[in-house]
Amino acid sequence: MKKSKNLFITATNTDVGKTYTTLKLIAIYSNMGYRVGVMKPVESGVIDIASDATALLNEVQKYNSEFLDLSIDDICPIMLKLPAAPFVANNLKPLDLNIIKQSFEKLSSKCDILLIEGAGGLFTPLEKEYFIYDLIKLFDAKALLVCDDKLGCINNTLLNLNFLSQQKIDHIWAINQRDESFNLISKPYFDAMQENILYIQEDLELIANNLLSL
Ligand code: GTP
Ligand code: MG
Repeated sequence: MKKSKNLFITATNTDVGKTYTTLKLIAIYSNMGYRVGVMKPVESGVIDIASDATALLNEVQKYNSEFLDLSIDDICPIMLKLPAAPFVANNLKPLDLNIIKQSFEKLSSKCDILLIEGAGGLFTPLEKEYFIYDLIKLFDAKALLVCDDKLGCINNTLLNLNFLSQQKIDHIWAINQRDESFNLISKPYFDAMQENILYIQEDLELIANNLLSL
């Protein structure tokens, strides 16, 4: 069976824009003609509904009929109540990686591109010594690092980029600019560091293409 291309959306921290970006990528890739699938391997802070997984599944179902008969549990096999890192939210018990793998196999057979939204950032623990970046490797995925725009984002971004390179995880990165202060405080460094910085707001088509060509 043809394998899906797996694209993992991570970020420099929680609340930076992974879901926001993934929702837009679903539409972009679908409009390019790909069968797009989605997965949120673990979501914490779930009391009644898994809000990320629900939003992602609803969006994918608009385009990919093979996801119509799937439920939230299919795309988000592990839901935890406490809004915390998964290992903490699971009372320091290791998560069931087998259930994540089974879900991944099922989903990847139903799409050309599987978009996988992480939880938190690269070093968010699923077990004492098993982190979100280990999942990226497990899925043999390419990564999009969504970077925050707050004071401190230069340090956050460089640490994450260095680590991804060190781990030989193919990746691109883009800034989710929401705050005007970024232009004064952080943009000058990024512009000096590299030409053509990518922004989630303005460059999403380019980001989508660059990610596919990794
Ligand atoms: P977790 O999955 O909880 O770690 O967060 P996340 O990285 O998925 O962040 P999310 O996409 O949920 O963004 C956090 C909040 O900011 C949400 O309410 C988004 O709708 C909002 N948001 C994120 N990026 C943007 C943006 O670029 N523009 C606007 N207007 N809102 C945004
Ligand atoms: Mg999210």
